[in-house]
Amino acid sequence: MAKNISFTRYLVEQQRRCQAPDGGAGSIPPQLRLLLEVVARACKGISMAVNKGALGGENSILGSAESENVQGEIQKKLDIIANEVLIEANEWGGHLAAMASEEMDSIYLVPNRYPQGEYLLLFDPLDGSSNIDVNVSIGTIFSVLKKPEGPPGRNGGSTEASPVTEADFLQPGSQQVAAGYCIYGPQTTLVLTVGDGVAMFTLDREQGSFVLTQENIRIPADTKEFSINMSNLRHWDAPVKRYIEECLAGADGPRGKDFNMRWIASMVADVHRLLMRGGVFMYPWDKREPEKAGKLRLMYEANPMAWLVEQAGGAATNGRQRILDLPPAKLHERVAVFLGSKNEVERVTAYHNTL
Ligand code: AHG
Ligand code: MN
Ligand code: MN
Repeated sequence: MAKNISFTRYLVEQQRRCQAPDGGAGSIPPQLRLLLEVVARACKGISMAVNKGALGGENSILGSAESENVQGEIQKKLDIIANEVLIEANEWGGHLAAMASEEMDSIYLVPNRYPQGEYLLLFDPLDGSSNIDVNVSIGTIFSVLKKPEGPPGRNGGSTEASPVTEADFLQPGSQQVAAGYCIYGPQTTLVLTVGDGVAMFTLDREQGSFVLTQENIRIPADTKEFSINMSNLRHWDAPVKRYIEECLAGADGPRGKDFNMRWIASMVADVHRLLMRGGVFMYPWDKREPEKAGKLRLMYEANPMAWLVEQAGGAATNGRQRILDLPPAKLHERVAVFLGSKNEVERVTAYHNTL
């Protein structure tokens, strides 16, 4: 790997490599490149804010905002700050038609004063909110879709574009054209797929830019590490209990090997670990709120992570089906999640489909 390849250079070279100007796995048309560069810049801004922590007195980014989001969760100050940073960075560039976020009830249309682009951006601006105030890794997750074809728009068409609606966003994860996350940990690291493998970039604070540090990330098919919130054990259904009990039985049990467990409570950090060294991450349906399919949100948590994991050779299901095939019914839909090392995800999925 050549030294010191910036995020921008990677995107330009990836587009040249791909030689499919607008379509095909790995292609990065100019509008998408601008979008990804803007997202990376926004993540840099969020990273700076995260680093300040308690500094800033009354303006400290720590603590509660004393408001609730559409899912009824108390918002932290940083949830709102990160959301604003992403919106302000992205609304003016002409690359987007609309945005959607965990922290906004409905979709955000690009204001009329700006040109409208062809992409839709979804994000979880700050993942792992419960870790903000305790100085544990958190992150931003994003997913990019194309606006479905419609009448020509403000970008040169003779008629006004039909306004984007929530229905335009409700595409299965298999339609994503880019997905990734930025983790704010000991290093700030951006991980990206455009459908041609997974690449990782580390923020070089002296240069002020993301630099390519790993390409073609692969998740080993087998693992001895699982990731689940064990305190919910009594609420799970039989297939999940069976899978975990077999892991816990270790070398003496049916699996014939000892397992290790990790749970950071930031999906970004748990997924980052399994991309780096393998593992299986699970947030299953449970009996605490039986009407909900799971805790995590399909469109801006599960879908981007599922695509990254698949692009790295892993698998991602809701226990029964491939996550990327699920047709979303609403923007903030929840889903059960099993993702990571292929053989483990296939095993726990088989337990669901046979029990
Ligand atoms: P968010 O902070 O965006 O609401 O997401 C938190 C999610 C996810 O990052 C993590 O894996 C999970 O919630 C942790 O849930 P528990 O606190 O139930 O373990
Ligand atoms: Mn989240
Ligand atoms: Mn969040």
